[in-house]
Amino acid sequence: MSVFRDDILAGKVAFVTGGGSGICKGITRAFMAHGADAVIVGRNAERLEAAAKELSDATGRQCLATPADVREPPRVEAALDAAIDRFGKVDIVVNGAAGNFLCPAATMSYNAFRTVLEIDTIGTWNVTRAAFERSLRANGGLVLNISATLHYAATPLQAHASAAKAAIDSLTKSCALEWGSLGIRVNAIAPGPIDDTEGMAKLAPPDMKEALEKAVPLRRFGTVEDIANAALFLASDAASYVTGEIFVVDGGAWLPGFGAALAQ
Ligand code: HXC
Ligand code: NAP
Repeated sequence: MSVFRDDILAGKVAFVTGGGSGICKGITRAFMAHGADAVIVGRNAERLEAAAKELSDATGRQCLATPADVREPPRVEAALDAAIDRFGKVDIVVNGAAGNFLCPAATMSYNAFRTVLEIDTIGTWNVTRAAFERSLRANGGLVLNISATLHYAATPLQAHASAAKAAIDSLTKSCALEWGSLGIRVNAIAPGPIDDTEGMAKLAPPDMKEALEKAVPLRRFGTVEDIANAALFLASDAASYVTGEIFVVDGGAWLPGFGAALAQ
């Protein structure tokens, strides 16, 4: 049962990269359950189609799957064109597509570092830029970037992802500054450790879970719903005066240096 009224996003269209799985599928589900139609983006067309069907069946709203690699501007533009063809506009852009793995800086290849920056940071820019041109500039809206807290102190084995998310935070503020007068809000959510996600599966082995949860001030990992609720708030009129904000949703995890615990 949601704490939000179920029509707070009625008439809105959300374009969500990474919407075929994990946290961003949860965000898409929440947006649709509160009245929005959605377009989801990822590389794996089969998984994306299955997610779109599941989300439509669960919420009764429309969900269009547009397979694309966010590193390729022509594919990104084609996905946005398909969104505009179907729905006429895009009100909310969620940049959640990301790639990650644990790797010491000492052995990380040129291409490994570049790959993560290209997916996370440049992918975020590609989608934001194309959505700005096609809908946001004329109609206003919200860009919601999915960041992390890895770079607040420093996280071992995460030089690539930390650099990528730090740049996303910076981009969030730059676009908020330049586009506020156009009625475009630009915010980010920085999740902490979120249970049952690919991100945590990659970063923390299951046998470390209990110890890691003890390192979180609120003594638990977050849920996909915790992040979806934050996204709903930021997408709602209740946040109409919030822009350039990096909204940390992490149970306080980064405060004692959770990143260091991850690498033990
Ligand atoms: C070292 C690695 C590596 C690893 C890949 N590479 N995995 N290096 N350790 N474990 C290197 C490769 O050797 C290659 O470099 C380069 O990275 C590109 O690899 P590809 O496999 O060709 O890349 P690609 O097919 O584009 O796949 C991207 C990917 C992959 C990031 C490597 O894992 C992916 O698609 N991930 C998407 C899903 C995902 O990661 N979700 C988690 C997001 S969670 P060389 O030099 O050999 O060519 C997240 C959490 C943040 O972001 C914070 C949590 C707290
Ligand atoms: P996830 O399920 O693996 O989500 C990543 C999504 O991005 C997948 O749907 C993937 O789909 C898509 N993607 C990856 N590369 C892409 C590309 N080049 N082009 C288009 N789509 C691409 O992982 P998650 O854990 O839910 O993470 C979601 C977001 O939350 C990410 O931004 C992550 O950095 C952030 N985050 C997660 C945590 C956590 O605890 N899990 C913590 C902090 C931040 P395809 O493979 O089909 O392309």
